[in-house]
Amino acid sequence: MTRLVELEATGPRKLEPSDIDDEKGDVAVCQCGLSASFPFCDGSHRQTDDEESETTYVYDDGERAVVERVVTADDE
Ligand code: FES
Repeated sequence: MTRLVELEATGPRKLEPSDIDDEKGDVAVCQCGLSASFPFCDGSHRQTDDEESETTYVYDDGERAVVERVVTADDE
């Protein structure tokens, strides 16, 4: 599976000691692109549990849709 995500940041987010989870003692960084607390994991990745391996998805306001075709500049 792949996922299309939109990100607005134009630079890095420097982690601070205050970013460490008080209970778990770690920092969980989101890799799925769906977290509302990006760059930190908020558990939103659970929505991806049943994604199929050869399918591309996009999520919009919690709704998942299948992307049928991605057009790039190389697709002329
Ligand atoms: S990995 Fe993205 S919300 Fe957990």
